[in-house]
Amino acid sequence: MMLPPVSLKNFGHYNMRLQWPQDDAFITCLPRRIFNNTQRSMKQFFLSCPKGLESLLEEECRKFLGESLTGLRASDGGIKVDTDIKNFLPYLLSTRLASRGYMQLGQWPINRLQDLYDLSRNFEFESWMDWRQTFKITTLFDLKAKYVLNNSLLASQIFKDGLVDRFRDVTGNRPTVDVKHSQISFLLRIEESRNTSKIAPFMLTFYVDMTGIPLSNRGYRAPGHEAPLRENIAAAMVMWANFGEQAEILVDPFVGTGTILIESAMILAKVPPSFLKLRDWTKGRRPYDMLEHLWFQNNSALNSQLSDWANTQVTMGEKSLLKIPSGILWGSDLDPNAILLAKKNLARLGLDRTVRLSEGNALTMMPPGPPPGVVVTNPPYGERMGTPEESAELFFNLSEHLKNNYKGYRAYLLAGDPKMHKGIHLKTSCKKPVRNGDIECRVLGYNLF
Ligand SMILES: C[S@@+](CC[C@H](N)C(=O)[O-])C[C@H]1O[C@@H](n2cnc3c(N)ncnc32)[C@H](O)[C@@H]1O
Repeated sequence: MMLPPVSLKNFGHYNMRLQWPQDDAFITCLPRRIFNNTQRSMKQFFLSCPKGLESLLEEECRKFLGESLTGLRASDGGIKVDTDIKNFLPYLLSTRLASRGYMQLGQWPINRLQDLYDLSRNFEFESWMDWRQTFKITTLFDLKAKYVLNNSLLASQIFKDGLVDRFRDVTGNRPTVDVKHSQISFLLRIEESRNTSKIAPFMLTFYVDMTGIPLSNRGYRAPGHEAPLRENIAAAMVMWANFGEQAEILVDPFVGTGTILIESAMILAKVPPSFLKLRDWTKGRRPYDMLEHLWFQNNSALNSQLSDWANTQVTMGEKSLLKIPSGILWGSDLDPNAILLAKKNLARLGLDRTVRLSEGNALTMMPPGPPPGVVVTNPPYGERMGTPEESAELFFNLSEHLKNNYKGYRAYLLAGDPKMHKGIHLKTSCKKPVRNGDIECRVLGYNLF
């Protein structure tokens, strides 16, 4: 049986608000009748990030998109962005702070989980994916939805059933779910409705994940270290430290796999964090899910515009990474294996000769040069490495060492539980709460006089 296209009438008493991307290519790749039935609006995107990074992400987004931005709102764990797809894609591949980027495909009020079946069965998935492509659906609830609707797995399953039935009806074939290596990833966010008329208690926002692999996974990190820092949190620390604004040294004396130094190098060289993925793409690999999406494949203008942009970034990036003077970025670690890993990771970006690494104790390591300089570092803080007592002692000793020997420098430390750093006898110049996975952390800044 062929299903009718999405129509406001199909949803009975609901006052439907369907939002579609408005690029001409979308309009040509989707049946025209859908657009006749929908309210034409700007394209909307959601960028997720670790909690605590939202305002920095907002600032970064405003700077990059400037006037092409028509809307920007902080949202739980990220920001919502309204802009044109042509401007958004280069930003998506340039953000240092977002974890994932999603494009909004629709938004509907819902009363109960069963509503999801009709919504998905009536959605023209065949315009977004081919039945041969594997997919997965993830559902996220806000607190209210979690309390009332309870089962996010069931929500994904109901939506999946509608999708599969839709494909079977329209094409005679059904696509397959692949939770681990799907080619297309959809996200359902179900939240308490903020609509004052309360047509329904919940609002469903339906997204497609643009990149699949998180944006925070830059592709430079070899496995083997027990507590590497998330790349976007490392970038945020370097940005809060204002590194790159003036000629100065940056030191990480707990270097681990080198994340902070690599992010600093990319910031200094103005190289997008997606540099390695973009290079893969220029070599014929397919590092992002969106390259497989029908809307992207059917838009040859957008396709060639983005690949030209990628080529330029790679050519310029290779040159500017090589231009970073040696003697600016320094790292050390007690563990020789960490140093080996850091070297390997730096080599992926051609930075192994530029960045100076050495084995040594952070508590005795002297500054590599006169100020100005900044220490940006992630000492072990008792959750994944060492005990809380050991961390508290380490933080105290470190602060004393920095106070006595790093005069004229600034320091930015990632710390866990406040008990660990309450013994530090220095006045903070900045204190930023950040959620690192399951751990509530804070980035503490100090001016060392
Ligand atoms: C939390 S990890 C740093 C992770 C790093 N930011 C990354 O992304 O890979 C802490 C590192 O500090 C090192 N370490 C612990 N105590 C140290 C000390 N006293 N001096 C120098 N390094 C130390 C550990 O070997 C470990 O590699």
